[in-house]
Amino acid sequence: MKIAIYPGSFDPITNGHLDILERAVKLFDKVIITIAKNPSKAPMFTEEERRSLIEACVRKYTNVEVDSFDGLLVEYARTKRATSLVRGLRAISDFEYELQMALMNRKLDGNIETVFLMPNEKYTYLNSSIVREIARLGGDVSGFVPKPVLQALQRKRKRTS
Ligand code: COA
Repeated sequence: MKIAIYPGSFDPITNGHLDILERAVKLFDKVIITIAKNPSKAPMFTEEERRSLIEACVRKYTNVEVDSFDGLLVEYARTKRATSLVRGLRAISDFEYELQMALMNRKLDGNIETVFLMPNEKYTYLNSSIVREIARLGGDVSGFVPKPVLQALQRKRKRTS
């Protein structure tokens, strides 16, 4: 069974992430989309909120599991018996950081391979910070995020305004 991990902050999950996931589910028997507990990022959504938003978006897949982790990614992958890490490459600007991470992860565990997938070009300029900022300022993000995320962003805005 070929198991892949798709890690990220997912604060919140966007259509760009879902585009990558859609491609990954066709390549692997199981994809575990997992939220990294990154203490250096101050998230807009709690881990529980991010998790339930992802769950709401991936119900249609039978081979996707949602999880979270802290510590080393390769160690987490080993506990899940995963042999691949999925990362999205949106533009050349992603490459240097992603190459560094992929090579470091390979150094840490040579049995785990990073697989890069390119999202549809309409998502190449998208990231979660931009979505959060536009939503916070009352802009329309309906084209960038799935419906449950759009509603969650609207609820957050109402609460803070
Ligand atoms: N569509 C839209 N946005 C995307 C995207 C896509 N397909 N792919 C990435 N992004 C955006 C994210 O929204 C995020 O945006 P933001 O910074 O504005 O919030 C940004 O790109 C970063 O991507 P993300 O996937 O969230 O990665 P990350 O940099 O937060 O986390 C980990 C990377 C979790 C894989 C890495 O930190 C990790 O492995 N941590 C565990 C500790 C470890 O093992 N460290 C050693 C690694 S060598």
